[in-house]
Amino acid sequence: MHCIKSMRFDTIGGGSIYVTVVVGGFFGDEGKGKIVSYLALKDDVDVGIRAGVGPNAGHTVYHQGREFKLRQIPSSFVNRRTRLLIPAGVLVNPRLLLEEIEATKCHGRLGIDAQAGIIESHHIEYEEKSSHLTKKIGSTRSGCGIANAERALRKLKLACEIPELKPYIVNVSAEVNDAIEADKKILVEGTQGTFLSLYHGTYPFVTSKDTTASACCADVGIGPTRVTDVIIVFKSYVTRVGEGPLPGELSKDEAKKRGWVEIATVTGRTRRAAPFNFELAKTAIRLNGATQVALTKLDILFPKAYNIRDFESLPKEAKAFIEDIESELKIPVTIISTGPYTEQVIDLRGEKL
Ligand code: IMP
Ligand code: MG
Repeated sequence: MHCIKSMRFDTIGGGSIYVTVVVGGFFGDEGKGKIVSYLALKDDVDVGIRAGVGPNAGHTVYHQGREFKLRQIPSSFVNRRTRLLIPAGVLVNPRLLLEEIEATKCHGRLGIDAQAGIIESHHIEYEEKSSHLTKKIGSTRSGCGIANAERALRKLKLACEIPELKPYIVNVSAEVNDAIEADKKILVEGTQGTFLSLYHGTYPFVTSKDTTASACCADVGIGPTRVTDVIIVFKSYVTRVGEGPLPGELSKDEAKKRGWVEIATVTGRTRRAAPFNFELAKTAIRLNGATQVALTKLDILFPKAYNIRDFESLPKEAKAFIEDIESELKIPVTIISTGPYTEQVIDLRGEKL
């Protein structure tokens, strides 16, 4: 008889060493696009997947003198070698996607899961007419909420039904799990932020699905045991667009004085702003099982930090801020962004991990 105890199940947990999920720690717009584009290049990622909700999120990437505002294509596109995937859990607006394929010239290396949901014009028209969504919630009106509602009703069209998407249709879950087995480097990019999660956020002022790291895995079709790192992205201050609570919110004048006023990528609205919030950050780390922090826009909080590439050269207030985060939150701050371009980063992973 076989002795179970002596068996080794080498496939559980896989031999892979790099399955990283990147999530937002506050209300979205933390700079996930910047961090993902940096990692895709620096770590020479094999597969970049954009999980999350869909085209309600805008991820900004500055690369080689150009600005890209992406609502569908993974920010990993900056590495020309990286395979790009849009998984089953994500919503696709075919018109936007085709425009972004053109802008990023990624025709030959993009795959879309057959079961990704499709946003049609009637979804957007409905959201525009809904005062609940536009006024009370402050939705981006990109059709995501209604499309997800239709998906729950099992009425939504899927990507495999759209003729223009035919050349890209694949089975993302199968492809990613095979890539993990082959020890490829996998980078999963979440959207929005932890407190916009339908389950864990500031309901009802949230987006139309869960946005935590576990949800990103479900979007792709990988089990949580496969993930080796969860990088949570915090901006050096907090912003929020749309309605809902924002603890410590500054007046418009104060936000302007501090240089924290930002314009939303998708809607063009002005973002509300507040100082970095340790309590929210602590909760977000727990909800995501985060293993590392990426801190963005340090140069906005401390202008002398702009373009600095090594920790020791940072102004001492900036160093103290990072040390406070580590001691309060008990998690290493491994990646620090000091400007919008992909390469404007202090990378401490080699020292701290
Ligand atoms: P919806 O997901 O477009 O319905 O928007 C619901 C709420 O989430 C609104 O407050 C939006 O402003 C917010 N939201 C949705 N997507 C993003 C995002 O990518 N960044 C920041 N806020 C977002
Ligand atoms: Mg954004």
